[in-house]
Amino acid sequence: MNVLLIGSGGREHALAWKLAQSPGLSTLYAAPGNPGIAQHAVIAAIDPADHRAIIDFCLRNSIQLVVIGPEAPLVDGLADNLRTMKIAVFGPDAKAAQLEGSKGFTKDLCKRAGIPTARYARVTSRDGALAALGDFALPVVIKADGLAAGKGVTIAATRDEAEAALEGMFGKSGGDAVIEEFLTGEEASLFVLTDGTTILPFGSAQDHKRVGDGDTGPNTGGMGAYSPARVLTPALEAQAIDMIIAPTVKAMADAGMPFSGVLYAGLMLTADGLKLIEYNARFGDPECQVLMLRLESDLLALMLATAQGTLADCPAPVFSDDVALTVVMAARGYPGTPEAGGAIGDLAAAAATGAVIFQAGTRDIDGALVASGGRVLTVTARAADVRTAQALAYRGVDALDFPSGFCRRDIGWREIARESV
Ligand code: AMP
Ligand code: GLY
Repeated sequence: MNVLLIGSGGREHALAWKLAQSPGLSTLYAAPGNPGIAQHAVIAAIDPADHRAIIDFCLRNSIQLVVIGPEAPLVDGLADNLRTMKIAVFGPDAKAAQLEGSKGFTKDLCKRAGIPTARYARVTSRDGALAALGDFALPVVIKADGLAAGKGVTIAATRDEAEAALEGMFGKSGGDAVIEEFLTGEEASLFVLTDGTTILPFGSAQDHKRVGDGDTGPNTGGMGAYSPARVLTPALEAQAIDMIIAPTVKAMADAGMPFSGVLYAGLMLTADGLKLIEYNARFGDPECQVLMLRLESDLLALMLATAQGTLADCPAPVFSDDVALTVVMAARGYPGTPEAGGAIGDLAAAAATGAVIFQAGTRDIDGALVASGGRVLTVTARAADVRTAQALAYRGVDALDFPSGFCRRDIGWREIARESV
């Protein structure tokens, strides 16, 4: 079968790498792709925001499944438009993607369905927001309602900071925001595939959001991850499915907007039990990289069954017992303004260490690979324990020649500390 993959990041490179191993695949296409994805797919230079061009491409190339990697095209209704043309899609339609696209929508749904999450107030004006702020202790969490590429959340330690964040949101344009109680605990991510009815657990991971070692500095899209997140024990995972994910999937179906695709739950393990921090309507980046390294099942078969609503007939996805760990190499300046154009060399030497290199913000200029984004590469390795997986991933990192790049040197620290006890 011919498949079109939408996206251009490390997540999509990992999906392309895994899809390319599926016996059911004829040709994999990717739009817009990147030089790493081009190792596994035919690149189509189409902007995913141009839905008509994507549909035309699908019809001309007998595409039987479109896999949408990032959130923006989902929220923008690309899946809806493809489904109207009877093209199968892995990824939710725009209404279901509100689980990621609107924080207020998700909080209201949690309240209606009795799903444990931080106490909140949904606010739509500056004055309303300032009035609601008084009901919350410090620190307090302020979130813009819509997609913000990881930049829409402020954790305010003082009332002045909270007011400044709200001022920033409502000062210019009005808008919509959520004020939330601050939760304390360890975060973990749980992934499930769902076709709107059936739910298949699809692994867990932990991310490292801050740019600096020791979890310091500004937030990023993620500087590294590992899977599984052992802190999410089988009992806690079952609880997350029963108390959080299953009621969400049912509430969405009952509301006439069934969610089909991968649902990514950001969870907080608080002293009062598990709570939902947020949903994403797609795989995490770089969490996808570690999931794909551990996945033993046929990804294409699972994605197709998700798209066709036949997950009930699928065997549960199988993951290796190994730990996978990934280190993100970013361009100097990230998450501010990253330095563009830095040369990247010795990819073959890095791959020879056994690590798998997934490309994100890279560009091929006359056969030379250069950086063209914030997060540039992810170096991923798999081993029986997290300490070995970490050592293998950093051996890959050290074999690369990317002088204008940097990475965190402590990815996996929590898990290693746990393993050492
Ligand atoms: P979100 O975009 O909702 O995932 O928020 C980004 C990050 O902010 C999360 O991964 C958490 O680290 C943090 N965060 C969000 N909401 C809360 C909360 N209610 N309490 C504590 N931390 C939070
Ligand atoms: N790594 C976090 C995310 O993909 O949202």
